[in-house]
Amino acid sequence: MTASVVGISGSPGSVSRSRTLLELALASLERQGAGTGRLIDLARLPADALLGRREDRDVAEALQATQDAAILAVSTPIYRATYSGLLKVFFDLLPQDALAGKIAIPIATGGGPTHLLAVDHGLRPLLASVGALVVATGVYGTDAQFRNGTPDTALAERVERATLEAASLASGVTT
Ligand SMILES: Cc1cc2nc3c(=O)[nH]c(=O)nc-3n(C[C@H](O)[C@H](O)[C@H](O)COP(=O)(O)O)c2cc1C
Repeated sequence: MTASVVGISGSPGSVSRSRTLLELALASLERQGAGTGRLIDLARLPADALLGRREDRDVAEALQATQDAAILAVSTPIYRATYSGLLKVFFDLLPQDALAGKIAIPIATGGGPTHLLAVDHGLRPLLASVGALVVATGVYGTDAQFRNGTPDTALAERVERATLEAASLASGVTT
């Protein structure tokens, strides 16, 4: 089955390590035949619409694409020990159970290892709160694991493992 794959980048930065991992995940899912991924960069969406102060076509379209996907890869920098506020406001706009039946891959990068568990204690519950089935392997990379913007082998392998789990789950799911 060809799944529809969407990546959501929650980094406000124009150059982003977490988005680099997200791009790797989308490429890996495509290689595995899960479908061509579409990347939604939340930093490019209007902040006042993300805060719910006005309607916006691009935000509405991003929310719809998110709900239409079979597999979602979600990336964020760790800010103050958890996912970014940018990611949070987008998720706050999703209806209850919006991701029921969807498979999600959690991806985060942090300045160091201290907040490694933010993937399991922050990002994973965020995804589960809207009904997503989150793969067993979460991805967490530290800034030291990147050289010239490229993740080291261990981190790239972790991304691969998470996407294999997602593709395997998706092959048994009908949407
Ligand atoms: C406002 C702010 C808060 C941060 N808070 C944390 C933190 O609590 N723990 C941590 O490990 N890194 C923290 N960092 C570092 C970023 O998480 C890290 O550099 C990350 O890789 C950036 O991801 P990005 O390149 O995708 O934006 C913080 C950075 C900023 C700008």
